[in-house]
Amino acid sequence: MWTRLVTALALFAATPVATAIESGSHVEDFEIYLNNEASLQRGAKYFVNHCLSCHSARYMRYSRLAEDLGLTADQVEKNLIFTGQKIGETMTNAMRSEDAKRWFGNAPPDLTLVARSRGVDWLYSYLRSFYLDPARPFGVNNLVYPNVNMPHVLAQLQGGQRPVYEDDDRGGEEKVIDHLELVQPGLMTSEEYDRMVRDLVTFMAYMAEPARLARLRVGMWVMLFLIVLLVLSYLLKKEYWKDVH
Ligand code: HEC
Repeated sequence: MWTRLVTALALFAATPVATAIESGSHVEDFEIYLNNEASLQRGAKYFVNHCLSCHSARYMRYSRLAEDLGLTADQVEKNLIFTGQKIGETMTNAMRSEDAKRWFGNAPPDLTLVARSRGVDWLYSYLRSFYLDPARPFGVNNLVYPNVNMPHVLAQLQGGQRPVYEDDDRGGEEKVIDHLELVQPGLMTSEEYDRMVRDLVTFMAYMAEPARLARLRVGMWVMLFLIVLLVLSYLLKKEYWKDVH
């Protein structure tokens, strides 16, 4: 009887832990700093260089980007537009979705709003979680998006990761991946790669809600104004009351 009770208690205690691992696994927390303009500019550059060939961002206009990211029209046209488009146009590409479906199995979705639909934590984890898997058509799989149909387009920069499995003695059952380990170095160190992903995700977060950036900026001026007002009111109060005893 005691053994049963102990087993029941152990199971009870273990349950929440197990579900937590299953549901939230491998998605890391990621904090964005939208008012980091340099990071946004780098993110935009990485985005047009590495993502725009397959994914569009058709609700984002280049001119808006220029304005929000502190770039001139000329800088945007020279450094960010590779599609022969004009600055007033939206960020689209020439890929037809029927072709894309044939090539990849799934058409690459538009990414304008992806930071809202997936969340920044998920995006940050997704871009860092590709691993080598010879069983997949592109030779890679993804920890947070199992059997994804996107090739690891940043593999040259990140290198190749292999899965390290949890050691368990359940035998026979499918093995569970514990974490990934870099086995083929890429052109970047892992710190550099993580920073690049940070910039990319920060840019995607901005793109999903450009007004947030404006709110942040207006908010800072409002705070500054209130502080100045506070000082002035205090001085005024002292002036008015100085002869009252
Ligand atoms: C060679 C084409 C290609 C390139 C380049 C590419 N992707 Fe993808 N991507 C895809 C395909 C195809 C899918 C659909 C995968 C699926 O549904 O299985 C996808 C899916 C995604 C998704 C999942 C979207 C969702 O909500 O389901 C995200 C996020 C994403 N890509 C981000 C990026 C980023 C960021 C870049 C640039 C660093 C990039 N992709 C570059 C082909 C590409």
